Amino acid sequence: MTAVGIDAIEIWTGKLKLDLAETFAPAQGDDPGKYTKGLGLHASSFPDVYEDIVTMGANAAYRLMDRKGLEPDDIGRIDVATESSFDNSKPVSTYIAGCLEQVFDDDFHHANKGERKFACISGTQSVDDAYNWIRAGRNRGRAAIVIATDTALYARDDPGEATQGAGAVAMLIDEEPAIVELSTEQGYGSADETDFLKPNQQFPSVDGKRSVKVYLARMREALDDFATVSGSIHPDDYHMIPFHTPFPGMVRKAAALGYRHIVRGTDVEDVLAEEIGHQPVREAFDSEDAFNDAIREYTDALTETERYRDWYNQAIEPTLEISRHVGNWYTGSVHLARASGLKVAMEQDIDLAGEKLLVASYGSGAQAEVHAETIVPGWEDEIAALDIDDQIQRRYDLSFEEYEEVHDVHNHAMDAHIEEDAEELTPPEAEFVFDGWGRM
Ligand code: HMG
Repeated sequence: MTAVGIDAIEIWTGKLKLDLAETFAPAQGDDPGKYTKGLGLHASSFPDVYEDIVTMGANAAYRLMDRKGLEPDDIGRIDVATESSFDNSKPVSTYIAGCLEQVFDDDFHHANKGERKFACISGTQSVDDAYNWIRAGRNRGRAAIVIATDTALYARDDPGEATQGAGAVAMLIDEEPAIVELSTEQGYGSADETDFLKPNQQFPSVDGKRSVKVYLARMREALDDFATVSGSIHPDDYHMIPFHTPFPGMVRKAAALGYRHIVRGTDVEDVLAEEIGHQPVREAFDSEDAFNDAIREYTDALTETERYRDWYNQAIEPTLEISRHVGNWYTGSVHLARASGLKVAMEQDIDLAGEKLLVASYGSGAQAEVHAETIVPGWEDEIAALDIDDQIQRRYDLSFEEYEEVHDVHNHAMDAHIEEDAEELTPPEAEFVFDGWGRM
């Protein structure tokens, strides 16, 4: 069977930086450690006033097509995953295709376009859709572009404000992929939840503490469901586990809980039982209240063991590197985590061809999906083409006053504007920028 998977990735970050320790914490009167150690975040990428989900998505998709030497005729499907949409009818993919048509000599009239919504997990659902479309033989030799693009903004003074972010990840899904081959092995955990939602509103209503528990509960179900498809899982089976990363502290919890699930029934479980004892928390793990005191006690003990630390340093830590500097990108987040892990491995000259990833996606509302991927030979060349480190470095570092001003401009409920002579905020040439309706 021909391999189908992710052939190329391009990442586009919002052009502004909000430094959490230097800028946000002092203005909030908080200890910077709450953000850098507690949440594990140093900065967020913030959208400039001329950026939105269309411009970021179009810039990422253009770079993807340009670098891979693709023409519109090579693309049979463009799907956008977002939870920041501004149009309840016309999908964001049509706006993005419209931008791209301005720079290519051809159009995308032949391409099937859509928009996927299920909070952050819709990026992965779109990849699944593209995979299924190609596997079903409906692609007529063409590839699909999946664009996960979000401005993940919260209302001012919401506890989620520190986890904001903005960026787009464009992925080319094709036969004979150059980065990872997708598989049919998937597991789900899905339930009707109301801890994070945006019913006809721009900024989310969030019960942050509960959202953490719901994430863990659905992830636990997805791991259990995955095990019914893949058979037993062993920690050594997967080189890395990119998780949906609203902030690295969330993944710290999910990884400990996930590890507890993954080692069940394996030789590692017996070793850990001797080292730290785990039977007393079995009930706690299976309860709805997924992160209670018993689990906290267990995970604290777990993270003290060398075995767990070695596993965490290989399987989890590299996937968090980019996220620490850009915040939550909602639909793009887990795909950024995959790219981050592969980038760190490439920098360390680790040969990953043939190794497996266990990708753990999540979306509020709520659903978790765990699926397996295999890294294919040549992956390093694709990852080497990413310039995300340069983009992160080049961001304009906002003062708190500038941050407040730019946040107001993005707040649809306010009639705010930015001083036009602010040199740093001048739109650059040679990229898509938003300068008002009908004038993109
Ligand atoms: P908070 O309540 O302000 O923070 O916001 P906190 O007081 O819970 O502190 C956070 C951590 O920092 C804690 O660690 C503190 O102990 C620690 P933990 O107990 O969790 O291990 N801390 C410190 N550490 C070191 N030095 C210090 C210090 N002070 C405190 N000085 C909250 C946290 C998650 C509630 C907030 O950020 C929030 O509401 N975020 C938005 C919702 C969210 O991201 N939820 C995550 C799960 S849901 C999800 O991932 C889906 C999502 O991406 C959306 C979608 O799918 O569409 C959000």
